[in-house]
Amino acid sequence: MTQKYTSLFSPIKIGKLHLKNRIVKSGQWFLYAEPDGSCGDRIAAWYGGLAKSGPGMITIEESICEYPWGASQMPHVRLDDDKFIPGLTRLAAAVHQHGVPVVVQITHAGPAYSSKVAGGQPKAPSSITPPSEPGLFEVAREMSRDEILDVLEKWAQAALRCKKAGFDGVELHQAHYALGNAFLSRRQNKRTDDFGCQNMDNRTRFGTMLIRRTRELCGPDFVIGVRMSNKEWSTEEPNLGTTNEEACEIARRFEAAGADYIQSSSYGYGAFTLCAFPDLVTYPETPPPAREFAARIDHGGALIPETANIKKSVKIPVSGVGRLSFAEADRAIREGKIDLAVFGRQFMADPEFPKKLAEGREDDIRKCTRCLHCLSVMWTYQPVQCRCNPFAGNELTMVIKPAEKKKKVMVVGAGPAGLEAARVASLRGHSVSIWDSAKDIGGSMNMAAFIKGTENDDLPSFIDWFRGQLKKQGVKINLGRTVTAATIEAEKPDVVICAVGAEAIEPELPIREGARVNTTEEQRRQASKALGIFGAKMASAATKIFLPGGKRIVVVGSDLPGIEAAQFLVKRGKEVPAIIDTDPVPFKGVDIQWLLKLAFPGGWLEQRKIRVVNGVRIDEITKDGITFTTADGKKETITCDSVLWVNKHRKNDRLAGELRGRVPEVYTIGDAMQDELGYVFNATHSAAELALKI
Ligand SMILES: Cc1cc2nc3c(=O)[nH]c(=O)nc-3n(C[C@H](O)[C@H](O)[C@H](O)COP(=O)(O)OP(=O)(O)OC[C@H]3O[C@@H](n4cnc5c(N)ncnc54)[C@H](O)[C@@H]3O)c2cc1C
Ligand SMILES: Cc1cc2nc3c(=O)[nH]c(=O)nc-3n(C[C@H](O)[C@H](O)[C@H](O)COP(=O)(O)O)c2cc1C
Ligand code: SF4
Repeated sequence: MTQKYTSLFSPIKIGKLHLKNRIVKSGQWFLYAEPDGSCGDRIAAWYGGLAKSGPGMITIEESICEYPWGASQMPHVRLDDDKFIPGLTRLAAAVHQHGVPVVVQITHAGPAYSSKVAGGQPKAPSSITPPSEPGLFEVAREMSRDEILDVLEKWAQAALRCKKAGFDGVELHQAHYALGNAFLSRRQNKRTDDFGCQNMDNRTRFGTMLIRRTRELCGPDFVIGVRMSNKEWSTEEPNLGTTNEEACEIARRFEAAGADYIQSSSYGYGAFTLCAFPDLVTYPETPPPAREFAARIDHGGALIPETANIKKSVKIPVSGVGRLSFAEADRAIREGKIDLAVFGRQFMADPEFPKKLAEGREDDIRKCTRCLHCLSVMWTYQPVQCRCNPFAGNELTMVIKPAEKKKKVMVVGAGPAGLEAARVASLRGHSVSIWDSAKDIGGSMNMAAFIKGTENDDLPSFIDWFRGQLKKQGVKINLGRTVTAATIEAEKPDVVICAVGAEAIEPELPIREGARVNTTEEQRRQASKALGIFGAKMASAATKIFLPGGKRIVVVGSDLPGIEAAQFLVKRGKEVPAIIDTDPVPFKGVDIQWLLKLAFPGGWLEQRKIRVVNGVRIDEITKDGITFTTADGKKETITCDSVLWVNKHRKNDRLAGELRGRVPEVYTIGDAMQDELGYVFNATHSAAELALKI
């Protein structure tokens, strides 16, 4: 086997630590710790499992040095008391048993503390208006000098506990929105004392004192890394964000204070809000100031140029992060722009990717589609889950074991539910066939990809991965075959899994003569031919040249497909004056981080002058527009050339009902199992759970 990514798989030293390759697991908060912040079986199983695949180093998620003030929410891994050392010791051992070095990212929420943790007010260098994420943070109070010194000592003592627990080092979190960066940022630090931003000495005082004290306590061989923002991108006026030149100077000072490596991330305000996740900058449309940044995303290394400048400024290793592609990571190392490549979400989508990459099995890697569902779960303070990989974080409860009795399994429907069920059932040794009336696999994900494009959610890559895996596993794929009870009886399976998707509800439309109304179901039928021939990407691109429906289109349906349909139309030059819905609840199925970009004051919907009106009664649709009565009884007409009616859905248990009593085992999964869309998340998760049981 020839190694494709030789730079990524070359060894490197950080301080005295030997890394066998340059793939590093990023610090990501998963909420797998126990409710009291101790480390139990779940978190140990997760990180131990990641180590098994042989990355160069693992960074344990942001863990807090002070409780409650250091926590943005709970459960965070706690480092503020010796009583947490036994759990931490088990966590370190779980990773070390596979010979992989491991450091703990230590943080303090500072301005990001939530009063929901234990009441009170967040504390920060200054009493600032909350940064960046609209509505996420409360207004902080200014810390006294004594409080700053107290936090510094607690932070260094937390590092010492990590050393006592057997970790190889720590990564001091001085990036993004947490306390460390709040000292470094002119946007957030208005102090007038010697912890202020008047000059670089003061600005870096907190960080450099922290590094020195940690070194003093933990000794010369203990690795001390720093995660920092290589720039605070901003379109705010005045622009107070840290420049890349300033970040280079900050990195130099951290090195001089004794840091062993720099982890170079980014942060942003205005158009660059949340640019540590480069995908979010371009959703739902790339704002003009971010066009160059967006081009970098396509290239596979959005945050690399600024990181390369940091690397030029210091001698210690510098790692890059942020939607890295494997090829770009390898190239950036080879070209001397970064020393190590840090991956976050890719480890969730496929924890085995370092091993697969090392073995030259890149095609077997389930790529992160960048949907950011995981981040959304994190922000609802639930244990993080991946939409595409239902096994991530569930190592204790979901294990693929050979089936006791091998069965003939027939899966009807090749959407995400059917595909995942077929994959897992076949891995367990069952004889599996999958059937779909469509000409290709993917189910509704093809239509979703057609509507959304692939920039922010690469669903076609997910479909392709299934195609490859099912082929390798010998699953028999029958396309263009509408399955009926008769088909099934002829096949004589032991198990039938109905993954037939939801049933679209055909609306009773109050249409007057000449009105133009398209339903998404009609469009799906029309698009399915083009999708089968050209694929979602090309078919979607063709609609940029021609799309019927007139210039001004009202969308009826404010759930995820409705919102995506409005984006689709706007991106093709249509005017969408409103999204209206009979349902009183808007944005069903829209993940929270997307909502932040869409619905907050000044967000995309407001910028594009799209009203969202829920709880209406639709009175009539004429050739001139749509008339409805609002929840408070007002009649309103919006003029438009046509209406796009987004079909609602209900569960689809007809086939399963016909089969019960005629086939030994019949199950329903995915969208077919409930009245509201469960989306890709429910499809893959319900499928894997079932396939582990049969
Ligand atoms: C426009 C649009 C945008 C969307 N955007 C998103 C999004 O951004 N994020 C997200 O998570 N979800 C999104 N969804 C929803 C998501 O695609 C579905 O929730 C998901 O695909 C459901 O998976 P499933 O496998 O249960 O069903 P489906 O994907 O619907 O697959 C069911 C399959 O069964 C086949 N089938 C049905 N009956 C038979 C039969 N008798 N014989 C043979 N084959 C049969 C169908 O042809 C179909 O291929 C979107 C959906 C649409 C339409
Ligand atoms: C669910 C989730 C949790 C995260 N938690 C942290 C964290 O604890 N500390 C941190 O510095 N960054 C955190 N991040 C940011 C990641 O470390 C990483 O920088 C980001 O996801 C971009 O890298 P990627 O494109 O490889 O995922 C988190 C990201 C996600 C998606
Ligand atoms: S949920 Fe989406 S973004 Fe997060 S790891 Fe999974 S595929 Fe990637």
